[in-house]
Amino acid sequence: MSHAQRQPSLAAADWRKDFPILGQTVNGQPLVYLDSAASAQQPASVIDAVARYQREDHANVHRGVHTLSHRATDAYEGARDKIRDFINATTRSEIVLTSGTTESINLVAQSYCRPRIGPGGKILVTHLEHHANIVPWQLVCEQTGAELIVAPIDDHGQLELEALRSMMTNDVFLLAIGHVSNALGTVNPVKEIIAHARQCGIPVLVDGAQGVPHMPIDVQDLDCDFYAFSGHKMFGPTGTGVLYGRETLLDEMPPYKGGGDMILEVSFESTIYNELPYKFEAGTPNISGVIGLGAAIDYLQSAGMQRIAAYESDLHDYMLSQLGRVDDIRLIGTAANKASVQSFLLGDIHSHDLGTILDHQGVAIRTGHHCAMPVMKRFGISGTARASLAFYNNTDDIDRLVAALEKARQVFK
Ligand code: ALA
Repeated sequence: MSHAQRQPSLAAADWRKDFPILGQTVNGQPLVYLDSAASAQQPASVIDAVARYQREDHANVHRGVHTLSHRATDAYEGARDKIRDFINATTRSEIVLTSGTTESINLVAQSYCRPRIGPGGKILVTHLEHHANIVPWQLVCEQTGAELIVAPIDDHGQLELEALRSMMTNDVFLLAIGHVSNALGTVNPVKEIIAHARQCGIPVLVDGAQGVPHMPIDVQDLDCDFYAFSGHKMFGPTGTGVLYGRETLLDEMPPYKGGGDMILEVSFESTIYNELPYKFEAGTPNISGVIGLGAAIDYLQSAGMQRIAAYESDLHDYMLSQLGRVDDIRLIGTAANKASVQSFLLGDIHSHDLGTILDHQGVAIRTGHHCAMPVMKRFGISGTARASLAFYNNTDDIDRLVAALEKARQVFK
């Protein structure tokens, strides 16, 4: 039996009840949340972990000798250990806690690239990237005289792999590539791409913001140099994120920001920086958020990332088959290997109008350019409607989406 013919299992019904926000009605209809690529919802265990920390344990980390500070530090550093385990990094020194994917990428741009690159050097990205994996490199290019080069995609929204490989010349200083496209859902074969880049001596940063929530990630198996992701897309709090970096590279990099906690000793003459990963973590961090992220990882580990990936793959196939039946629909992004996301247009209805009509029926999707204007330009459009799944969605959600689209078609007839 093919994927497309299989009905997704009912496992999501169990997961769904763990997410209190999904139990509400919106505009008089039970909420259908299909915007997890923008921000995923949090299970009660994450909400409770943050609340419990705030009620019982809050104090600053790494600073106090008192009991609350010890508790806060243990919980915060415990979350770092969970993250290390979750992505199979070799050591906790490789887990830099940031405010999100955007900060993680900017850190690499400014601390790894900027001091090393100059005129004649190139940074290679792809046409599929989110703005967060374009603009930080443009800034470095402006600052250093380096050049940004872009690997093309085809009409399905897939990378043109031959072209990408041919662009990996010896003047390329870094490849920065998304694991999963947030706008189209294309899953890039990053392991094979990294292997080729390694043969060419090119370090690789993977923007994993849309990868981590949907599939098991093993940074040692991928053999990437940097892997960036966000807490709020993986069912944790906003304002949290991770930069995984190969220890040897992080070690050579200067701090990105200066302040408290990232130092061992300060005088007006000179400063000795702290060891990894603290060298990159200036100032009081988002303690409660990181503890919540740790709870999100506990949740994902107990659900099982393999199980989540298999369930979502079936659900995505179901979504594609059902959307394909809607008259006048144009699917944008039809790559063979996709995760979570489907972009589309319906007749000549503007995507924002479509989003509003769906919202009136309790169906939440994202509309617009999805922070990926070059992708939209590649398809000759200004934006799309985008439904994005998580493991708490089910076939009823897809059926409601399709019914809402049919209604929109009637309204605009
Ligand atoms: N990057 C987020 C999205 O894809 C905001 O919607």
